[in-house]
Amino acid sequence: MSHPRTLTGTAAVVLILLGANGTRLPAQAPPAAITDAPQRLERALATRDWSAALAAAAVVNDAIESRHVETLYTLARCHALLGNVDQAIAFIERTHQAGMIEVSRVRNDEAFASMRADERFTAITQAIWLKGYLWLLERPERDAYQQPDRVMQALGFRDGERVADIGAGSGYFTRRIARVVGPAATVLALDIRPQILEYLASRAASEGIANVRTAKVEPDDPHLPAASLDTVLMVDTLHYVKDRAAYAKKLRAGLAPGGRVVVIDFIPRLAGERPWGPPPEQNMSRAEVDAAMAAAGLAPLRVHEFLTEQFFVEYAVKTPTP
Ligand SMILES: C[S@@+](CC[C@H](N)C(=O)[O-])C[C@H]1O[C@@H](n2cnc3c(N)ncnc32)[C@H](O)[C@@H]1O
Repeated sequence: MSHPRTLTGTAAVVLILLGANGTRLPAQAPPAAITDAPQRLERALATRDWSAALAAAAVVNDAIESRHVETLYTLARCHALLGNVDQAIAFIERTHQAGMIEVSRVRNDEAFASMRADERFTAITQAIWLKGYLWLLERPERDAYQQPDRVMQALGFRDGERVADIGAGSGYFTRRIARVVGPAATVLALDIRPQILEYLASRAASEGIANVRTAKVEPDDPHLPAASLDTVLMVDTLHYVKDRAAYAKKLRAGLAPGGRVVVIDFIPRLAGERPWGPPPEQNMSRAEVDAAMAAAGLAPLRVHEFLTEQFFVEYAVKTPTP
Protein backbone atom coordinates (compact mmCIF):
# COMPACT_ATOMS: atom_id res chain seq x y z
CA MET A 1 0.00 0.00 0.00
CA SER A 2 1.49 3.35 -0.89
CA HIS A 3 1.37 6.05 1.74
CA PRO A 4 -1.38 8.56 1.16
CA ARG A 5 0.49 11.45 -0.35
CA THR A 6 -2.11 13.97 0.67
CA LEU A 7 -0.76 13.90 4.19
CA THR A 8 2.80 12.66 3.89
CA GLY A 9 3.80 15.86 2.19
CA THR A 10 2.24 17.98 4.89
CA ALA A 11 4.69 18.39 7.73
CA ALA A 12 2.28 20.45 9.81
CA VAL A 13 -0.29 17.72 10.11
CA VAL A 14 -1.28 16.97 13.68
CA LEU A 15 -1.99 13.38 14.61
CA ILE A 16 -4.02 11.90 17.38
CA LEU A 17 -4.05 8.18 18.01
CA LEU A 18 -7.24 7.27 19.75
CA GLY A 19 -6.72 3.67 20.72
CA ALA A 20 -7.65 0.34 19.26
CA ASN A 21 -11.11 1.27 18.06
CA GLY A 22 -10.32 4.30 16.07
CA THR A 23 -7.58 6.52 14.85
CA ARG A 24 -8.61 10.12 14.78
CA LEU A 25 -6.87 12.51 12.53
CA PRO A 26 -7.81 16.15 12.73
CA ALA A 27 -9.33 17.92 9.76
CA GLN A 28 -7.22 17.23 6.72
CA ALA A 29 -4.59 19.90 6.24
CA PRO A 30 -5.44 22.36 3.51
CA PRO A 31 -3.90 21.59 0.12
CA ALA A 32 -0.22 22.39 0.16
CA ALA A 33 0.52 25.76 -1.32
CA ILE A 34 1.85 25.28 -4.82
CA THR A 35 3.67 28.62 -4.55
CA ASP A 36 6.11 28.90 -7.44
CA ALA A 37 6.54 25.15 -7.96
CA PRO A 38 4.99 25.07 -11.48
CA GLN A 39 7.34 27.83 -12.61
CA ARG A 40 10.31 26.10 -10.99
CA LEU A 41 9.28 22.90 -12.73
CA GLU A 42 9.13 24.64 -16.12
CA ARG A 43 12.53 26.21 -15.59
CA ALA A 44 14.10 22.98 -14.39
CA LEU A 45 12.74 21.05 -17.37
CA ALA A 46 13.97 23.73 -19.75
CA THR A 47 17.46 23.68 -18.24
CA ARG A 48 17.45 19.85 -17.99
CA ASP A 49 18.02 20.04 -14.20
CA TRP A 50 16.32 16.73 -13.46
CA SER A 51 16.83 16.83 -9.67
CA ALA A 52 15.22 20.25 -9.39
CA ALA A 53 12.47 19.12 -11.76
CA LEU A 54 11.79 16.06 -9.61
CA ALA A 55 11.54 18.13 -6.44
CA ALA A 56 9.25 20.72 -8.03
CA ALA A 57 7.09 18.05 -9.70
CA ALA A 58 6.64 16.32 -6.34
CA VAL A 59 5.36 19.57 -4.79
CA VAL A 60 2.96 20.14 -7.69
CA ASN A 61 1.77 16.55 -7.47
CA ASP A 62 1.18 16.72 -3.71
CA ALA A 63 -0.94 19.81 -4.16
CA ILE A 64 -2.93 18.30 -7.01
CA GLU A 65 -3.53 15.03 -5.15
CA SER A 66 -4.65 16.93 -2.10
CA ARG A 67 -7.10 18.98 -4.15
CA HIS A 68 -8.23 15.83 -5.94
CA VAL A 69 -9.21 14.23 -2.63
CA GLU A 70 -11.08 17.37 -1.57
CA THR A 71 -12.92 17.57 -4.89
CA LEU A 72 -13.94 13.91 -4.80
CA TYR A 73 -15.04 14.37 -1.19
CA THR A 74 -17.18 17.36 -2.15
CA LEU A 75 -18.76 15.33 -4.95
CA ALA A 76 -19.55 12.56 -2.48
CA ARG A 77 -21.14 15.03 -0.06
CA CYS A 78 -23.23 16.71 -2.76
CA HIS A 79 -24.53 13.36 -4.02
CA ALA A 80 -25.33 12.31 -0.45
CA LEU A 81 -27.16 15.56 0.26
CA LEU A 82 -29.16 15.11 -2.94
CA GLY A 83 -30.09 11.57 -1.88
CA ASN A 84 -28.01 9.91 -4.61
CA VAL A 85 -26.72 7.21 -2.32
CA ASP A 86 -25.09 4.98 -4.96
CA GLN A 87 -23.13 7.88 -6.44
CA ALA A 88 -22.19 9.12 -2.98
CA ILE A 89 -20.83 5.68 -2.10
CA ALA A 90 -18.91 5.56 -5.38
CA PHE A 91 -17.30 8.93 -4.70
CA ILE A 92 -16.41 8.05 -1.11
CA GLU A 93 -14.70 4.98 -2.52
CA ARG A 94 -12.83 7.15 -5.02
CA THR A 95 -11.90 9.54 -2.21
CA HIS A 96 -10.47 6.56 -0.32
CA GLN A 97 -8.54 5.36 -3.39
CA ALA A 98 -7.17 8.88 -3.87
CA GLY A 99 -5.66 8.94 -0.39
CA MET A 100 -8.28 9.99 2.18
CA ILE A 101 -7.23 8.69 5.60
CA GLU A 102 -9.36 10.79 7.97
CA VAL A 103 -12.00 8.31 8.95
CA SER A 104 -13.54 10.44 11.69
CA ARG A 105 -14.24 13.19 9.17
CA VAL A 106 -16.19 10.77 6.97
CA ARG A 107 -17.93 8.97 9.81
CA ASN A 108 -19.00 12.19 11.54
CA ASP A 109 -20.01 14.14 8.42
CA GLU A 110 -23.72 14.93 8.68
CA ALA A 111 -23.97 14.77 4.88
CA PHE A 112 -23.59 11.00 5.20
CA ALA A 113 -25.87 10.59 8.22
CA SER A 114 -28.52 8.66 6.30
CA MET A 115 -25.90 6.27 4.91
CA ARG A 116 -24.22 5.24 8.14
CA ALA A 117 -26.13 1.97 8.35
CA ASP A 118 -25.34 1.10 4.72
CA GLU A 119 -22.88 -1.80 4.76
CA ARG A 120 -20.98 -0.36 1.78
CA PHE A 121 -20.39 2.83 3.79
CA THR A 122 -19.25 0.76 6.75
CA ALA A 123 -16.84 -1.23 4.59
CA ILE A 124 -15.28 1.86 2.99
CA THR A 125 -14.91 3.71 6.27
CA GLN A 126 -13.26 0.64 7.77
CA ALA A 127 -10.82 0.60 4.85
CA ILE A 128 -10.13 4.33 5.33
CA TRP A 129 -9.50 3.72 9.03
CA LEU A 130 -7.06 0.93 8.25
CA LYS A 131 -5.14 3.03 5.75
CA GLY A 132 -4.90 5.89 8.24
CA TYR A 133 -3.78 3.59 11.05
CA LEU A 134 -1.09 1.95 8.96
CA TRP A 135 0.09 5.34 7.77
CA LEU A 136 0.32 6.50 11.36
CA LEU A 137 2.52 3.53 12.28
CA GLU A 138 4.80 3.80 9.28
CA ARG A 139 5.02 7.56 8.77
CA PRO A 140 8.66 8.62 8.43
CA GLU A 141 8.24 11.26 11.14
CA ARG A 142 7.76 8.46 13.68
CA ASP A 143 11.43 7.52 13.48
CA ALA A 144 12.40 10.81 15.14
CA TYR A 145 10.90 9.84 18.50
CA GLN A 146 10.86 6.06 18.06
CA GLN A 147 14.58 5.77 17.22
CA PRO A 148 14.18 2.27 15.82
CA ASP A 149 17.88 1.77 15.08
CA ARG A 150 18.83 2.63 18.64
CA VAL A 151 16.07 0.42 20.03
CA MET A 152 17.29 -2.48 17.90
CA GLN A 153 20.85 -1.88 19.02
CA ALA A 154 19.80 -1.75 22.68
CA LEU A 155 17.97 -5.06 22.35
CA GLY A 156 20.94 -6.73 20.65
CA PHE A 157 19.03 -9.58 19.00
CA ARG A 158 21.16 -12.65 18.35
CA ASP A 159 21.23 -14.74 15.22
CA GLY A 160 18.55 -17.41 15.61
CA GLU A 161 16.78 -15.64 18.49
CA ARG A 162 13.15 -16.71 18.92
CA VAL A 163 10.96 -13.61 19.07
CA ALA A 164 7.25 -12.83 19.30
CA ASP A 165 6.09 -9.29 18.49
CA ILE A 166 2.68 -8.86 20.15
CA GLY A 167 0.55 -6.12 18.64
CA ALA A 168 2.87 -6.18 15.66
CA GLY A 169 0.74 -3.72 13.65
CA SER A 170 2.23 -2.88 10.28
CA GLY A 171 5.42 -4.71 11.22
CA TYR A 172 7.49 -1.60 11.96
CA PHE A 173 9.61 -3.62 14.42
CA THR A 174 8.78 -7.12 13.15
CA ARG A 175 10.52 -6.50 9.85
CA ARG A 176 13.61 -5.05 11.51
CA ILE A 177 13.82 -8.02 13.89
CA ALA A 178 13.26 -10.56 11.11
CA ARG A 179 16.26 -9.14 9.26
CA VAL A 180 18.62 -9.41 12.20
CA VAL A 181 17.67 -12.82 13.64
CA GLY A 182 18.42 -14.42 10.31
CA PRO A 183 16.47 -16.66 7.95
CA ALA A 184 16.61 -19.72 10.21
CA ALA A 185 14.59 -18.01 12.95
CA THR A 186 10.89 -17.30 12.57
CA VAL A 187 9.51 -14.10 14.09
CA LEU A 188 5.95 -14.49 15.36
CA ALA A 189 3.88 -11.40 14.47
CA LEU A 190 0.74 -11.43 16.59
CA ASP A 191 -2.17 -9.04 16.45
CA ILE A 192 -5.90 -8.97 17.16
CA ARG A 193 -6.71 -7.55 13.70
CA PRO A 194 -6.55 -9.87 10.69
CA GLN A 195 -6.51 -6.99 8.17
CA ILE A 196 -3.44 -5.54 9.84
CA LEU A 197 -1.73 -8.93 9.74
CA GLU A 198 -2.56 -9.24 6.03
CA TYR A 199 -0.84 -5.93 5.41
CA LEU A 200 2.15 -6.95 7.53
CA ALA A 201 2.53 -10.26 5.67
CA SER A 202 2.29 -8.71 2.23
CA ARG A 203 4.66 -5.87 3.09
CA ALA A 204 7.20 -8.28 4.56
CA ALA A 205 6.96 -10.44 1.42
CA SER A 206 7.38 -7.39 -0.80
CA GLU A 207 10.58 -6.57 1.11
CA GLY A 208 11.89 -10.11 0.61
CA ILE A 209 11.41 -11.09 4.26
CA ALA A 210 10.38 -14.73 4.51
CA ASN A 211 10.89 -15.51 8.21
CA VAL A 212 7.76 -13.90 9.66
CA ARG A 213 4.72 -15.91 10.68
CA THR A 214 1.53 -14.00 11.45
CA ALA A 215 -1.25 -15.14 13.76
CA LYS A 216 -4.42 -13.56 15.04
CA VAL A 217 -4.65 -13.56 18.83
CA GLU A 218 -7.22 -12.62 21.45
CA PRO A 219 -7.19 -9.27 23.29
CA ASP A 220 -6.59 -11.08 26.58
CA ASP A 221 -4.41 -13.93 25.34
CA PRO A 222 -1.43 -13.90 22.95
CA HIS A 223 -1.48 -17.73 22.76
CA LEU A 224 2.29 -17.93 22.98
CA PRO A 225 3.90 -21.31 22.45
CA ALA A 226 4.88 -22.56 25.92
CA ALA A 227 8.40 -21.92 27.24
CA SER A 228 9.86 -21.32 23.79
CA LEU A 229 10.61 -17.61 23.24
CA ASP A 230 13.78 -15.69 23.93
CA THR A 231 12.08 -12.32 23.53
CA VAL A 232 8.47 -11.25 23.74
CA LEU A 233 8.12 -7.67 22.54
CA MET A 234 5.18 -5.33 23.05
CA VAL A 235 5.48 -1.85 21.57
CA ASP A 236 2.61 0.59 22.21
CA THR A 237 0.27 -2.36 22.79
CA LEU A 238 0.18 -3.32 26.47
CA HIS A 239 -1.87 -0.21 27.29
CA TYR A 240 -4.78 -1.80 25.38
CA VAL A 241 -4.81 -4.87 27.65
CA LYS A 242 -7.34 -4.71 30.47
CA ASP A 243 -6.13 -7.25 33.04
CA ARG A 244 -2.41 -6.74 32.73
CA ALA A 245 -1.39 -8.91 35.68
CA ALA A 246 -3.21 -11.92 34.19
CA TYR A 247 -1.74 -11.09 30.80
CA ALA A 248 1.80 -10.88 32.20
CA LYS A 249 1.45 -14.47 33.44
CA LYS A 250 0.66 -15.53 29.88
CA LEU A 251 3.73 -13.66 28.66
CA ARG A 252 5.89 -15.40 31.23
CA ALA A 253 4.52 -18.79 30.23
CA GLY A 254 5.88 -18.21 26.72
CA LEU A 255 9.43 -17.45 27.86
CA ALA A 256 12.20 -19.96 27.35
CA PRO A 257 14.76 -20.15 30.19
CA GLY A 258 16.66 -16.86 30.22
CA GLY A 259 13.97 -15.17 28.09
CA ARG A 260 12.81 -11.57 28.41
CA VAL A 261 9.64 -9.53 27.99
CA VAL A 262 10.28 -6.11 26.45
CA VAL A 263 7.74 -3.34 26.93
CA ILE A 264 7.92 -0.01 25.14
CA ASP A 265 4.87 2.15 25.73
CA PHE A 266 3.84 5.75 25.96
CA ILE A 267 4.73 7.85 28.98
CA PRO A 268 1.35 9.12 30.25
CA ARG A 269 0.46 12.66 29.22
CA LEU A 270 -2.46 14.96 29.87
CA ALA A 271 -5.05 15.57 27.16
CA GLY A 272 -3.68 17.91 24.51
CA GLU A 273 -0.11 17.66 25.78
CA ARG A 274 0.97 15.48 22.90
CA PRO A 275 -0.66 15.46 19.46
CA TRP A 276 -0.55 11.65 19.23
CA GLY A 277 -0.39 8.66 21.53
CA PRO A 278 -3.20 7.08 23.52
CA PRO A 279 -5.94 9.24 25.02
CA PRO A 280 -5.62 9.92 28.77
CA GLU A 281 -8.12 7.19 29.65
CA GLN A 282 -5.64 4.67 28.21
CA ASN A 283 -2.66 6.10 30.07
CA MET A 284 -0.49 3.39 31.61
CA SER A 285 2.47 4.23 33.83
CA ARG A 286 5.75 2.39 34.03
CA ALA A 287 4.89 1.63 37.70
CA GLU A 288 1.66 -0.13 36.62
CA VAL A 289 3.61 -2.28 34.19
CA ASP A 290 6.21 -3.11 36.83
CA ALA A 291 3.40 -4.18 39.18
CA ALA A 292 1.73 -6.36 36.54
CA MET A 293 5.05 -8.00 35.69
CA ALA A 294 5.87 -8.50 39.37
CA ALA A 295 2.58 -10.36 39.78
CA ALA A 296 3.92 -12.79 37.17
CA GLY A 297 7.31 -13.05 38.86
CA LEU A 298 9.05 -10.78 36.36
CA ALA A 299 11.34 -7.90 37.33
CA PRO A 300 13.14 -5.17 35.38
CA LEU A 301 16.36 -6.52 33.95
CA ARG A 302 17.43 -3.45 31.97
CA VAL A 303 15.83 -0.02 31.73
CA HIS A 304 16.63 2.14 28.71
CA GLU A 305 16.20 5.86 29.17
CA PHE A 306 16.86 7.33 25.74
CA LEU A 307 13.29 7.45 24.39
CA THR A 308 11.63 10.74 25.28
CA GLU A 309 8.00 9.69 24.70
CA GLN A 310 8.02 6.09 25.85
CA PHE A 311 9.38 4.02 28.68
CA PHE A 312 11.45 1.05 27.55
CA VAL A 313 12.03 -1.84 29.93
CA GLU A 314 13.28 -5.41 29.59
CA TYR A 315 11.81 -7.80 32.18
CA ALA A 316 13.08 -11.24 33.15
CA VAL A 317 12.18 -13.88 35.70
CA LYS A 318 12.99 -12.57 39.15
CA THR A 319 15.79 -14.54 40.73
CA PRO A 320 15.25 -15.20 44.44
CA THR A 321 17.58 -13.20 46.65
CA PRO A 322 19.84 -15.51 48.67
C1 LIG B 1 -0.26 1.27 18.32
S1 LIG B 1 -0.15 -0.20 17.39
C2 LIG B 1 1.58 -0.61 17.57
C3 LIG B 1 2.05 -1.52 16.46
C4 LIG B 1 3.53 -1.91 16.53
N1 LIG B 1 3.86 -2.57 17.77
C5 LIG B 1 4.42 -0.72 16.32
O1 LIG B 1 5.15 -0.35 17.24
O2 LIG B 1 4.38 -0.15 15.23
C6 LIG B 1 -0.95 -1.39 18.41
C7 LIG B 1 -1.25 -2.69 17.69
O3 LIG B 1 -1.67 -3.63 18.67
C8 LIG B 1 -2.81 -4.30 18.23
N2 LIG B 1 -3.50 -4.69 19.47
C9 LIG B 1 -4.32 -3.95 20.26
N3 LIG B 1 -4.68 -4.65 21.35
C10 LIG B 1 -4.04 -5.85 21.26
C11 LIG B 1 -4.00 -7.01 22.10
N4 LIG B 1 -4.68 -7.06 23.25
N5 LIG B 1 -3.27 -8.07 21.71
C12 LIG B 1 -2.56 -8.02 20.55
N6 LIG B 1 -2.58 -6.96 19.71
C13 LIG B 1 -3.30 -5.88 20.06
C14 LIG B 1 -3.53 -3.32 17.35
O4 LIG B 1 -4.38 -3.98 16.43
C15 LIG B 1 -2.37 -2.61 16.67
O5 LIG B 1 -1.97 -3.26 15.50
